[in-house]
Amino acid sequence: MKHRLIITIDGPAGAGKTTMARLLAVKLDYLYLDTGAMYRAITLKAMNMGLDLNDEKALVKLARDTKMRLNFKSKKIRSREVTANVHYLAGILGVREVMWRFQRKIGEKGGIVADGRDMGTVVFPMADIKFYLEAKSTERAKRRQKDFSQLERKVILKDLEKEILARDRKDKGRKIAPLKKAKDSIVIDTTALSIPQVLGAMFRVIASLPAKGEAGEAV
Ligand code: DC
Repeated sequence: MKHRLIITIDGPAGAGKTTMARLLAVKLDYLYLDTGAMYRAITLKAMNMGLDLNDEKALVKLARDTKMRLNFKSKKIRSREVTANVHYLAGILGVREVMWRFQRKIGEKGGIVADGRDMGTVVFPMADIKFYLEAKSTERAKRRQKDFSQLERKVILKDLEKEILARDRKDKGRKIAPLKKAKDSIVIDTTALSIPQVLGAMFRVIASLPAKGEAGEAV
């Protein structure tokens, strides 16, 4: 491989995007861009400030005024409360535009694995490789349960699955940048696959990519 690729991973919650994106980025020595964390962080900030989550103007102003850094250490952004509220901010064009600008600036030179909902469709339509991961909702709920703290783990699996399905509906149904498969995406169903199996499948795709300038590409 001669150049540093842009690799996108989209798909619903719990399909394995974050795990795979992290591993790929480490193996390739690329930057890992967790765009879900960006939407979560701005949501947490709005909640902490006590902003009305239906006040679009205030939320766009907040996004524009917020200086973003790639350093998402906070566990709080993963709480169920934040998860339940992200859709307010993720559904606002003005907020997304701020995020898109930041994401493109980071990724445009390549050497990036970006995970989210609209990476292959909106943010990096020219990505070298677009993955779309999916899995059955029962399996996704089980995986989410494992992510939770001891206390939260008591959450009933059925309730988690319901939350996941509700989030799917919101992510797929929103007007701006909904979750969908890019036409040129490579779909992997991870329901019955282990992490090494998914990683192997992804690496086979990456290895099969002709280096720029080869395989009939005009140079
Ligand atoms: O990937 P995640 O579960 O951390 O994402 C949390 C929410 O953020 C997700 O339900 C929708 C929103 N999101 C988005 O709208 N666009 C992205 N590129 C990433 C996340």
